[in-house]
Amino acid sequence: MSEVKKTGGLAGIVAGETAISTVGKEGVGLTYRGYTIEDLAEKSTFEAVAFLLLYGKLPTPGELVAYQQQLRTLRGLPFPLKSVLEQLPANSNPMDILRTGCSVLGTLEQESSEHVQIQIANRLTALFPSMLLYWFQFHKTGKRIETETAAPNIASHFLELLHGQKPSELHARALDVGLILYAEHEFNASTFTCRTVASTLADFYSCVTGGIGALRGPLHGGANEAAMELIEQFQTPDEAEAGLVRLLHDKKLVMGFGHRVYKHADPRSDIIKQWSSKLADVSDKKHLYAISERLEAVMRREKGMFPNLDFYSATAFHFLGIPTGFFTPIFVIARISGWSAHIFEQRAHNRLIRPTADYIGPEPQKLPDSSGS
Ligand code: COA
Repeated sequence: MSEVKKTGGLAGIVAGETAISTVGKEGVGLTYRGYTIEDLAEKSTFEAVAFLLLYGKLPTPGELVAYQQQLRTLRGLPFPLKSVLEQLPANSNPMDILRTGCSVLGTLEQESSEHVQIQIANRLTALFPSMLLYWFQFHKTGKRIETETAAPNIASHFLELLHGQKPSELHARALDVGLILYAEHEFNASTFTCRTVASTLADFYSCVTGGIGALRGPLHGGANEAAMELIEQFQTPDEAEAGLVRLLHDKKLVMGFGHRVYKHADPRSDIIKQWSSKLADVSDKKHLYAISERLEAVMRREKGMFPNLDFYSATAFHFLGIPTGFFTPIFVIARISGWSAHIFEQRAHNRLIRPTADYIGPEPQKLPDSSGS
């Protein structure tokens, strides 16, 4: 039993090899194919990062232009998918829209062979924002919006479809950095789900659909939405401090804090915190940033805990005018690149993922004659 507890949740278990990223590695930190997250967030773009993850190398300037152009041409929704999106209830969880949309696309644009896996990865990268916002705008405004915008990148495309106008440079770049930070994170629960499904030789869409389902929970991707719900409850930092102390006294989990792998800090948190601060400066809801800072200070003081990426992403996305229910879908829009890279890698070196369990049930026993019929 003690052995089971030690390995519960597979904590600390090496479950395979990867050449895609390092998470919390001594002296290295978070890297995507050897490049640090700090450098990528400062000097790169989401499209370049997606290319890096999917093709294994950074694009040349020419390749990047061509890749951005290619993604732009993949933003159109097939008609049957539009009709399904129109039928899905207005009160659906937006993660269910992406999960269902991905599944429907898998029937319309089937994976005919493994040679097309990269096309599917690119199509999903380009199409997830369109799926989500077509459904959203149809139900909110009754309009069937045109999803093939001329926006130069996915961040601008998303904000343009959401707000109906081009975003400012600051807003577009803030979301672009958010996408970079969310793009990849080694064997987290959703990526491991994608790899597990891939290991059965299932099709690409089944792998991604499984990943979306795993990401939806508040212990994983859903934490950014839960963090926003917490922050928004308070009007002032003092009120937030008192409320958080009560939560901790009641032994409640505080979403957006803690991490399975990082023990002292999440390197992505400082980066998104800076962006949240910049966005707060031009927002009329600055108090939410002050509240977040106080919550962070209290968590450090009371529990010695640090914010993870989800905590300051919440206010950053809020300042961009993004509804809270879209925070985890944005995670999908970014993470499709990491998931895809892992599906490729799993397929290239496949062995069925099938662990074993320690049995803790009853000893073998005789079935009574009276049971059954
Ligand atoms: N708030 C309050 N207490 C927390 C906490 C949090 N966010 N995260 C962990 N703890 C506490 C646990 O209650 C536990 O206390 P105990 O030893 O008294 O029982 C201790 O810290 C160890 O936590 P544990 O659940 O074993 O860590 P884990 O590695 O299994 O879980 C997370 C990691 C991320 C699931 C966990 O920190 C969590 O639930 N965080 C909130 C959700 C979140 O932000 N998820 C996004 C992750 S990027």
